[in-house]
Amino acid sequence: MKLSDLQNTRWTLNHPNLGTGPVSTQAYSSPEYFELIRDKVFKKTWICTGKRIDEIPNPGDYFLEETAITGTSVIIIRGLDNTLRGFHNTCMHRGTQLVFESYGNVKGKLTCIYHGWAYGLNGKNMVVTEREMFFDLETMEKDLIPVSVDVWSGIVFMNLDPSPKETLLQHIGPEVDDLFGAYPFETTSVQVSYRADLDCSWPVLRDSQIDGYHLKYLHKRSAPNFMESEESPNRHAYDFKLLGKHGFGSFYGNRAKIGADLSKVAPVASLASKVGQTLASDTATRVDLSQWAKGVNPTRSTDWFFDILYIFPNAHFIFLGYQQYIIHKMMPGKVVDKSSWNARYFAPPMPDGGLVDRWAAEYMKVSLRDLWREDGNTTMGAQRSINSGVFKKMYLQDQEILIRHAEKVLEEAVRF
Ligand code: FES
Ligand SMILES: [Fe+2]
Repeated sequence: MKLSDLQNTRWTLNHPNLGTGPVSTQAYSSPEYFELIRDKVFKKTWICTGKRIDEIPNPGDYFLEETAITGTSVIIIRGLDNTLRGFHNTCMHRGTQLVFESYGNVKGKLTCIYHGWAYGLNGKNMVVTEREMFFDLETMEKDLIPVSVDVWSGIVFMNLDPSPKETLLQHIGPEVDDLFGAYPFETTSVQVSYRADLDCSWPVLRDSQIDGYHLKYLHKRSAPNFMESEESPNRHAYDFKLLGKHGFGSFYGNRAKIGADLSKVAPVASLASKVGQTLASDTATRVDLSQWAKGVNPTRSTDWFFDILYIFPNAHFIFLGYQQYIIHKMMPGKVVDKSSWNARYFAPPMPDGGLVDRWAAEYMKVSLRDLWREDGNTTMGAQRSINSGVFKKMYLQDQEILIRHAEKVLEEAVRF
């Protein structure tokens, strides 16, 4: 397909079930709907933690997943047998939390600070102190409460339901697995992780990243000239795919031209893109496009900026290159109009090349921070308008198909 063809493509019309009418903001403001989202989605569905298995490489390594909407704290821990398991961070004596750090390591067992009960890394109770003083030792439920944990392409997911109605692979679906499972996720490690607590509902946060419409406007200072093209003045997306519950978009970005003429970006950005891998680097020239996972940059365009893969309910994978991606973990807060956002950038571990590599990587980190601040700043005003009651429906254009689809999927998940 030529760039000029994209101007007149209407992706939404290929999916009549989505409709073309305005979309209600009910999911963005209703406390009753928020409770349904909690019970039908966040207590029952696979949730992407945004973390990789290599972040807890050794037996006893753990991280905590604290989820405001469900009020839960979950320990995801590597066992002595190297298996990852998840447990509520809840001592079975009087409920005190067992671990307190976001990441850590325990040697062989989890010991409660309150009265000294201890549990193996498999969740089995090992120690009840002063056991002779208890009355029902044999029938007491003493083992930790399990949570389902599984891994897709090295990325850790959890499901609060200990007996989920579908496996993680079934949730991801064969199409997503086929298109993106071969991406070399394992060659990367997290380079930067930002977190923000926002005064906006979770769907507002979700939507802030899944349209290509805003790029040219909102990010005109942080990504200058990335979206301009005589052939495609509106820089419309190369591709949209609705993949069951998930959604995908591939976006035009002029990177090849930017890479060829770095005068279009700030001098410091130009220098960083030459010595390291940044947003202005021409990624398509670094690794032959034929080697890329087939889902990424599916049109194999050199004028490509990035792809978004939205994995229902809470993750965006943003592919920026062959071995360069972001995971946005977006979680609802305790109440309907609060949410939290963890943005993590992954790339190959920093080469031991000294200051120049380090400087380019730092430049990439601050570039992403600037983009993310721009995105984050739009969310809170939108929520204020929704909360005020004056703003009840959204008119979405064709390039916002992923928002329309995500709302439809959510509606189906909470209603059925
Ligand atoms: S609450 Fe943990 S041992 Fe008492
Ligand atoms: Fe954005």
